[in-house]
Amino acid sequence: MDDFVTLTYNGQEIKLPVAIGTEGEKAIDISTLRRDTGFITLDPGYANTGSCSSAITYMDGEQGILRYRGIPVDQLAEHATFKETAYLLINGKLPNREQLTRFSVMLNDNSLVHEDMRTFFSNFPRMSHPMGILSAMVNALRSFYPELNTLEEEINLTMTRLLAKVRTMAAMSYKISRGHKVIYPRPDLTYCENFLNMMFDTPVKPYEINRAAVNALRVFWILHADHEQNCSTSAVRVVGSARVNLYAAISSGIAALWGPLHGGANQAVIEMMTKIHEEGGNFKKAIERAKDKNDPFRLMGFGHRVYKTYDPRAKIMKKMCDELLESLQINDPLLDLAKELEEVARKDSYFIDHNLYPNIDFYSGIVLRAIGIPTNMFTVMFAIGRLPGWIAQWKESLDDPQWKICRPRQVYTGNQEYNFVPIHARG
Ligand code: CMC
Repeated sequence: MDDFVTLTYNGQEIKLPVAIGTEGEKAIDISTLRRDTGFITLDPGYANTGSCSSAITYMDGEQGILRYRGIPVDQLAEHATFKETAYLLINGKLPNREQLTRFSVMLNDNSLVHEDMRTFFSNFPRMSHPMGILSAMVNALRSFYPELNTLEEEINLTMTRLLAKVRTMAAMSYKISRGHKVIYPRPDLTYCENFLNMMFDTPVKPYEINRAAVNALRVFWILHADHEQNCSTSAVRVVGSARVNLYAAISSGIAALWGPLHGGANQAVIEMMTKIHEEGGNFKKAIERAKDKNDPFRLMGFGHRVYKTYDPRAKIMKKMCDELLESLQINDPLLDLAKELEEVARKDSYFIDHNLYPNIDFYSGIVLRAIGIPTNMFTVMFAIGRLPGWIAQWKESLDDPQWKICRPRQVYTGNQEYNFVPIHARG
């Protein structure tokens, strides 16, 4: 295959280089297009635009493949801890014993949150959405932890602080929202155990570590850990490209993730299912509405920009629902409803023709409900899981020799020049 493509316009031939990825994906490198032709490209929603080269995550949307640093996500979900997965994404390979111990010690040492931040939490209105609070609090971390002396120290410690503190802050916000005593992280517990303990331990009812819940949380976080250039990760990269501090870049990622078309879908799915259940379980109405072009309603938890087949994460999550609910002896009517709805939707020609399959959010809320996580915290759970991916992508962008500040162009469609009209002369 040629390593360039030729663009012909008005008799002029322009050769554009082809970039080929390690899995054979092909891209036309248009970085000199405007300089050589005066043209820009127009690609709303960036559906055909590669914003960077990246060695972190590989997705094949046609075959339903997802790998972190080359390792299939199902293998990580089966064998890895969330901490190992975070290390893998950020550093490029799995840690050996010594590296993992050092990483764990660093996370433990940085897991407390400045006590003054508690007053911030308690001053948000009670009805505030936790994602808004989390985004604001992460941005505020810079004020509590000012820039360090060397760039290396600044990067390493800021990444560690985020991984260690966001989990504490999420549990803290839950406790404060309930008016309960904040529970601190414990050095003897694993990353997942610690979170559940901080969420559910109370002075009058100590939390008993539940192995099935810990395992489900581990898998949930691993499955969410990275997903290449999705909306929130792109937000982190775009904001980071202005060379803001990492706290500010991650804060923007959290804000993007909040949207119901992105991470907020896990909350939206459960709200949709609950409504269907409360109205007698007739999900066919929801399917009909989703198909109606004049109705903005969408079947939440269905469809994906990249996956045109079953989301590999959703497959694992669906299996996890069955295992977890059985192990905790929970009978959640929303699981049966979700399975029935999926079966009917997948036989429907609209969903077949549009390649619409369940995505990760379709079953994840049922797992979170079973663990005891309140619905408005679902997207926060996604954010904790996605944190290693955001950090890895931001770090990669820092070292990218081709990196520039992100600044897209536009095709202007407004007024052509006309003169200012004084107020007395305006119609
Ligand atoms: N229900 C009904 N129709 C849908 C749906 C849906 N959930 N998703 C896509 N479509 C239709 C859409 O109406 C369009 O139809 P047509 O071509 O006839 O106009 C076609 O499928 C293509 O949709 P699109 O909006 O152009 O596709 P996109 O790649 O821009 O959007 C999506 C992807 C995820 C935003 C969209 O599928 C959606 O809104 N899904 C529901 C929200 C959701 O579950 N989001 C979580 C995504 S997975 C977690 C994450 O990584 O963020």
